[in-house]
Amino acid sequence: MRLQYPSSPAKLTEKGLAAKSMKLLSLKLTHFKNYEALSVDFSGGINCIVGKNGVGKTNLLDALHYLSMTRSALNTVDQQNISYQQPFFAINSTFQIIEKEHKVNCYFEQGKKKIVKVDGKEVDKLSDHIGMIPSVLVTPDDTEIIKEGSEVRRKFFDSVISQHDRAYLEDLMGMQRLLKQRNSFLKKNEGRRNINKNLLAVYDETLIPLFQRVSSKRKAFIEAFSPYFATNYQQIFDGAENPIISYKSSLLKEAFEEEYQQALEKDIILERTTMGAHRDDYAFTLNDRPIKKFGSQGQQKSFILALKLAEYDYLQSLKGFDPLLLLDDIFDKLDDERIESLVTLLTDTKRFSQIFITDARIERSRAFFDGKDQVSFFEIEDGELK
Ligand SMILES: Nc1ncnc2c1ncn2[C@@H]1O[C@H](COP(=O)(O)OP(=O)(O)O)[C@@H](O)[C@H]1O
Ligand SMILES: [Mg+2]
Repeated sequence: MRLQYPSSPAKLTEKGLAAKSMKLLSLKLTHFKNYEALSVDFSGGINCIVGKNGVGKTNLLDALHYLSMTRSALNTVDQQNISYQQPFFAINSTFQIIEKEHKVNCYFEQGKKKIVKVDGKEVDKLSDHIGMIPSVLVTPDDTEIIKEGSEVRRKFFDSVISQHDRAYLEDLMGMQRLLKQRNSFLKKNEGRRNINKNLLAVYDETLIPLFQRVSSKRKAFIEAFSPYFATNYQQIFDGAENPIISYKSSLLKEAFEEEYQQALEKDIILERTTMGAHRDDYAFTLNDRPIKKFGSQGQQKSFILALKLAEYDYLQSLKGFDPLLLLDDIFDKLDDERIESLVTLLTDTKRFSQIFITDARIERSRAFFDGKDQVSFFEIEDGELK
């Protein structure tokens, strides 16, 4: 079996969805992590961010992730994203989305709430911003989606769904808020059987419908997403394999509410909510076997890459324009042949309007992208553009 990255996703483009472009035109970082002051213009095509370890390549991608998701992909404590000894950070940017230019700025000052502004106007709710700049981030840690517990998978799929469904994101946040309250009530009760059931019923009255809405969206999402995933996997992996993502949830059971009520005793003893959409999982199988246990490293890598490219295609088809594609150190641990095919895939300008890719091995990237159209190099040295 051999890995093969195709040059064009034939099946996906046949649908007649004319890819419209989104591009980051300029970026200005002030006191963001190891960037004291950076100002840089980007163009379409491939933007290759190169430099030694620790110079700030990942931080730069993280700033773009911030503009998209209103938070860092690496550190959710905003305080720690401010350069050491500074009072604030600012990420200022100009995007071209389809035909229009938009200014997107994120600002965080110690001890204050973060501010996101679009075209000078402050965004009321951060969740309203998510989806304006859709993005797909690929990092070497992504195999955790296969290897780790269900939380990582939920988080991944939740972030895909949230980027195109604001109501889902709101339900999800509401669900998490209520769960927190219900759990802290159970904790305070310290396992006593004579718990105030009326109060629990009040929580559940809202919580159960939230579980149901979240779950039905997850189910519908997996159905819609699966064809994108299968197509990408078949194209990457040269073999007759059948990769399947299936959604696992107690909410799929007809008798969910009944079982949820029956779980109350258990909830009281364990002092937490043991059933609900917060316990959902997604099973990844290859020819009916769990990929976590039976997949080779190569198969797992392909699975993840297919997952991410499917995320890209899926968001693109819903948004009507290209998401940002952020690729962090993806050449690492790949042999030259695989890098070569990956480069062929990425340089398909019909598919991607703008890509950001990092590499610590400058010469390697230069060699692989040599002679390709629309490739720009940005060399970073200690938080500065060289
Ligand atoms: N809040 C911060 N202030 C200043 N420097 C930071 C901050 N957070 C992280 N860094 C620095 O950023 C550097 C890592 O940058 P990173 O983008 O991961 O490098 P790489 O080029 O290897 O991807 C480290 O040297 C780290 O100390
Ligand atoms: Mg890095």
